[in-house]
Amino acid sequence: MKNSIAICPGSFDPVTNGHLDIITRAAKMFDKVIVVVAQNSAKKNCFSPEERVEMIKKCIPDLENVEVVHFDGLLADYAALRGASAIIKGLRAMSDFEYEFQMALANKKLNPNVETLFLSTASQNMYLSSSMVKQIASMNGDISGFVPEVIKQDILDRINSKK
Ligand code: PNS
Repeated sequence: MKNSIAICPGSFDPVTNGHLDIITRAAKMFDKVIVVVAQNSAKKNCFSPEERVEMIKKCIPDLENVEVVHFDGLLADYAALRGASAIIKGLRAMSDFEYEFQMALANKKLNPNVETLFLSTASQNMYLSSSMVKQIASMNGDISGFVPEVIKQDILDRINSKK
């Protein structure tokens, strides 16, 4: 895909190894990938959008074709604004599917020029989620296998400050 731009949206509260695997694979498929920290109105976030952007940037210093931004409006509008032809989402299990399919259809209706592509999550990340990371950290569990070392302390500091 020449001069192709994809967006990788999510709450990323915080980014996990599962998200980073999807971002890395998308960066190999597209000329440019824009990771969009967006608002999921169903979720109450632990980190500010700016903090989430910074944590993602810290994890991917070597991915030169990846930009990380915060956007507060509709994803379909952001895709149009940036000329993106694809929205990339990771699918962990069938339980993700209904929600993701609904979003893909809504985004297609709002912006017919953008296709949603699903990448299957790597098997070692099938069970992984941001909420699981926060829960394990809040109970003093070891989150080393779930997030990169470079953001581990940021997460622990925030979780501990909330106790
Ligand atoms: O990581 P998440 O929480 O599953 O990501 C969901 C997210 C943030 C991508 C989704 O809620 C979203 O696209 N929010 C932006 C607002 C929007 O476009 N809503 C309509 C989606 S159909």
